Amino acid sequence: MFTDLTKEMIAGLKERFGEAYYILDSRQFRQNYLELKDAFAGVYPRFNIAYSYKTNYIPRLCGIVNELGGFAEVVSEMELELALRTGVEPGRIIWNGPVKAPLAVEKFLLSGGTVNIDSLEEAQSIKEAAQRNPGATFRLGIRCNFDIGDGKVSRFGLDTEGDDFKKATELILSTPNARLVNLHCHFACRSLEGWPARAKGIIELMDKTGFIPETVDLGGGIFGKMPESLKEQFSVNIPAYADYARAAAAPFRERFGGSGPCLLAEPGSALVGDCMKLLGTVKSIKNIRGKYFATLLASQKNISMSGVNPPIEVIGMGGVQQEYKDLDMAGYTCIENDILYKNYSGPLAVGDAVLFGNCGSYSVVMKPPFILPNFPIIDISGAEAELIKEAETFEDIFHTFIF
Ligand SMILES: Cc1ncc(COP(=O)(O)O)c(C=O)c1O
Repeated sequence: MFTDLTKEMIAGLKERFGEAYYILDSRQFRQNYLELKDAFAGVYPRFNIAYSYKTNYIPRLCGIVNELGGFAEVVSEMELELALRTGVEPGRIIWNGPVKAPLAVEKFLLSGGTVNIDSLEEAQSIKEAAQRNPGATFRLGIRCNFDIGDGKVSRFGLDTEGDDFKKATELILSTPNARLVNLHCHFACRSLEGWPARAKGIIELMDKTGFIPETVDLGGGIFGKMPESLKEQFSVNIPAYADYARAAAAPFRERFGGSGPCLLAEPGSALVGDCMKLLGTVKSIKNIRGKYFATLLASQKNISMSGVNPPIEVIGMGGVQQEYKDLDMAGYTCIENDILYKNYSGPLAVGDAVLFGNCGSYSVVMKPPFILPNFPIIDISGAEAELIKEAETFEDIFHTFIF
């Protein structure tokens, strides 16, 4: 459907949604979910997905994950509330993150959710909460931090070689009504090499301690599907789901056969990256000392992609197009480097629509209320374009200010 948007359809959508909007393909999201799940489960059957809400928390997407039997990976009370309102059972919600409100954590643990502990202070606070509720059983995980050879020192979780890790696990294990059910890790690195290293780190930890949890959660960091034009702009190879599945899950199959802990991954970008496009409209074209700039109703802030040119499609809307060379497509903000696409060469006219692809991850959730409220979102998976988020308004941005 995405590539089939015609001039006539865009003219029709303009009547309803204006000159800039996000286009969601929730059918593609569903397909990505099922493909990724199958790829991992084909290697290690005890596998499930915990969708990373922060990557793109459009409620429709959260609902699809829930319907398909996945978990919700949340990192704030706001996201927890969303999971609950989506109808996710607390037992299928995993709460990660470095800062969590203790009272909300206590309530969540009482409801049967799992919390991954990120610091010694958090372990202490949860122990106290468990002691206040001796009749309840708290399900806990611990975020494990070890070297995966990516040359970085992550700030998250507890160093598995350090004293705090030992103390935090002792705090949990010495609490009769607290159960350590999950070993978790995540590293901000999507390259394939990091995945066997994650698996190895956790398996070594299990072997060293003799502790086998219910679940091992290897986190997110899987590249989504993308066209060649985008792949070429990365310095690393872009692996397929099946490559990640082999890299991450084969070590578990080798170590446990089919009956080890349940393996989880927390993909965000891998599922949603290619499921959204942003449509913007060319408002002016100018030449400044030999360089062409088109200014659009759309911004780099809408797609949060930087350092790469997204895949684009220009749809002539009837204006007389000219051929341009090395034209920059710039955004509506006053930021000098608000450039959505650098050095475009091809036909363009004022009034043309430009579709920016692969902008499903960290886009709507990262858009600041800077200069303009955000554009609406429509889902075009069905026969009709369906509004799933209204255009934000002045009120949406300013109702919390005291005038
Ligand atoms: C703990 C955790 N899980 C999952 C993700 C999702 O990562 P990605 O979008 O790369 O899959 C992140 C991203 O920062 C994360 O911090």
